[in-house]
Amino acid sequence: MSALLLALLLAAGCGSADPCLGWHHSLDGDAGLQLTAAEHGGAWGQTACFQCHQAWTIHPPSCVEDGWMEHIDEAVDYEDNISCTSCHGMNGTTDEDWVDGTSGAS
Ligand code: HEC
Ligand code: HEC
Repeated sequence: MSALLLALLLAAGCGSADPCLGWHHSLDGDAGLQLTAAEHGGAWGQTACFQCHQAWTIHPPSCVEDGWMEHIDEAVDYEDNISCTSCHGMNGTTDEDWVDGTSGAS
């Protein structure tokens, strides 16, 4: 087997085992951590983050860029979605979208 083919096979193997495969490097986006309409598709304008995102998959320490985990642990309240806006912005919503019942864990 050629060394090149072996290298390709190894690279493919590592890729499929990568726990951060599919991870969106928000910090690399146009607006940094802040969500933009282009990035967020049909979720733009929504407050119920946990209808689509799962609390235990959004900030896996091994995928988050160095130095951020500490801030995340301090700032995120997984029972209160409005805590997300301090880093990810308003997601196209206004303050009025967050009154009673829409900022819960749903
Ligand atoms: C203290 C700042 C901070 C807060 C508050 C915060 N996040 Fe994040 N979030 C980050 C950072 C940093 C990343 C990783 C960005 C990167 O690696 O480029 C991230 C990444 C994500 C991702 C991307 C995951 C992926 O697979 O690509 C999602 C989804 C997300 N956060 C959702 C949330 C939700 C929902 C909340 C509220 C419960 C929240 N975040 C609150 C900082 C924060
Ligand atoms: C209707 C489902 C849905 C809702 C509700 C939703 N999201 Fe998302 N979100 C997604 C999907 C799907 C992606 C991946 C987008 C892609 O693949 O381009 C995403 C991506 C993200 C990312 C990574 C963006 C990037 O840089 O690529 C962050 C951060 C995020 N969401 C935060 C939030 C926060 C905070 C809320 C609540 C205010 C929220 N989401 C509500 C479906 C949703």
